Amino acid sequence: AEPPKLVILKARESEEVDDGKKKVTIFFGTQTGTAEGFAKALAEEAKARYQQAHFKVVDLDDYAADDDEYEEKLKKETFAFFFLATYGDGEPTDNAARFYKWFTEGKEKSDWLKNLHYGVFGLGNRQYEHFNKIGKVVDDLIAEQGGKRLVPVGLGDDDQCIEDDFTAWRELVWPELDQLLLDEEKASGTTPYTAAVLEYRVVFHEQADGSATEDGSTNGNTTYDAQHPCIVNVAVRIELHSPASDRSCTHLEFDISGTGLTYETGDHVGVYCDNLIETVEEAEKLLNLPSQTYFSIHADKEDGTPLCGGSLLPPFPPCTLRTALTKYADLLSAPKKSALLALAAYASDPNEADRLTHLTSPSGKEEYSQYIIASQRSLLEVMADFPTAKPPLGVFFAAVAPRLQARFYSISSSPKISPSRIHVTCALVYEKTPTGRIHKGICSTWMKNSVSLEESSECSRAPIFVRTSNFRLPSDPKLPIIMIGPGTGLAPFRGFLQERLALKESGTELGPATLFFGCRNREMDFIYKDELNSFVEAGVISELIIAFSREGPTKEYVQHKMVQKASDVWNAISAGGYLYVCGDAKGMARDVHRTLHTIVQEQGSLDSSKAESMVKNLQMTGRYLRDVW
Ligand code: 2AM
Repeated sequence: AEPPKLVILKARESEEVDDGKKKVTIFFGTQTGTAEGFAKALAEEAKARYQQAHFKVVDLDDYAADDDEYEEKLKKETFAFFFLATYGDGEPTDNAARFYKWFTEGKEKSDWLKNLHYGVFGLGNRQYEHFNKIGKVVDDLIAEQGGKRLVPVGLGDDDQCIEDDFTAWRELVWPELDQLLLDEEKASGTTPYTAAVLEYRVVFHEQADGSATEDGSTNGNTTYDAQHPCIVNVAVRIELHSPASDRSCTHLEFDISGTGLTYETGDHVGVYCDNLIETVEEAEKLLNLPSQTYFSIHADKEDGTPLCGGSLLPPFPPCTLRTALTKYADLLSAPKKSALLALAAYASDPNEADRLTHLTSPSGKEEYSQYIIASQRSLLEVMADFPTAKPPLGVFFAAVAPRLQARFYSISSSPKISPSRIHVTCALVYEKTPTGRIHKGICSTWMKNSVSLEESSECSRAPIFVRTSNFRLPSDPKLPIIMIGPGTGLAPFRGFLQERLALKESGTELGPATLFFGCRNREMDFIYKDELNSFVEAGVISELIIAFSREGPTKEYVQHKMVQKASDVWNAISAGGYLYVCGDAKGMARDVHRTLHTIVQEQGSLDSSKAESMVKNLQMTGRYLRDVW
């Protein structure tokens, strides 16, 4: 809670003149900024279309200080749109969590939202089991509480082109708003609206004035979040795979002592890291600008009026082009259509401009899907294919290169054992894309190459913050737990085991704990082997079961081991135990889920639908928790 901010918001609202215009509130629940961007884009276009209404974009967290205020204020809304992302295992974003919890918690069916006309656009990824859960749930609940749905819930799919989904959904919104907001005579004459290319105002400086903080993030603060990360040292770095392995997995420890940053067992850490120097140099070449160009970007005009209707992200601090490209630009993701349009606007060769524009058009949909999505073309690859498209810096950082986002990792330590360190267990991403480019994961490569304080006083540093999760040990430590985590899915369980060790050492009686771990080969990628064995010796793990997938003639995975231990799994569930799964969502977690269903069905002698509702019930009651990606 930030009381001063709320006071200001309220004061402004009460000052709002009642000019008889209709008010439309556009809410967003965003994690990486896409939902917020769509909310602002909708508002921008709506403002241009409907001069007779007010549009306000609101962060769900800033809207109300508590549950009562949510209710009181929502009751008064007459037009609202919700942009809601779903992430992880069907969870809301951090800034929507409080609203979502309150809104979904056992409301009686009533019509308290009967004055509300609304639309929901969800952001999700079809590869995941809980595709767009948050958007769908909120959409249904508002209708149940009497709201009038203007358009069907939009199901944005990040696996394909989510911008297209948004554009298609938005086209359904206008006819509805035309009816509600426009005078009839005006409605017939609405002109199509074309979005302008976003652009910061850029000021070039002679030389560094030294005013920028190290990474544009503020320390000396004790409440850290994605906007205010805490800059910390890498204290320890260890390669966990043996030299015989052709892959790599890094154990990293961030030193948080003296920072005020705290965490709980099972939380996630968000890490901002630098682009690789080779990537940055490539970008400098493509932009054809010297790396030492010192500049600042501004989201307002010189007289202070906001540019682009306030849709620009807050600027990063003044710095050199080298620093800006290293810290703030996502150069390796597939470019969005809006980025291609911005490039097109600056292509001096008309053929390049035409082709770029075509890729964003409905007739170029298939080509975009092949050339960009299926080929995993990075922004830099696309810029290399269109060499005359050289946008100015204000356009490049506003519309072409998205902001480099933090990467999230399940913390692999417990504050009970490591209060001043946050441990991360991170597998290196290193793969060949269809175009033959070697894709090096930005953060995993950074971690692998980082220099620890043990190695040098000039160690690597990174801005980090903690994200709370619901992946927690049972409050009753005597209940049995089953943990399933192959590969780096082991990470949060290492934290759990540290916590159990601390509990045991302080005299707490522990229930049984089974760990299913999986790796390829005991000589190569059996990470934390000695630690796991000592957890067994200490009685913190009752049973350690390992599936080695590449030792025998056939693959053996954790789910195969679960089948062998079906009756133990069933007994643990029957005794009120907890089940945890961590790791890859699309393959492992899905297969483990199916196996669990089969085990419940067979061991409980249930039919398939009874087994399903039992598994659902475990999930609903928080006894089957997943931390998957
Ligand atoms: P593989 O690489 O031999 O296929 C950690 O990455 C372990 O998880 C590896 O042993 C890997 O096996 C295994 N794994 C891969 N896909 C899986 C799946 N769908 N279910 C369970 N384990 C899987």
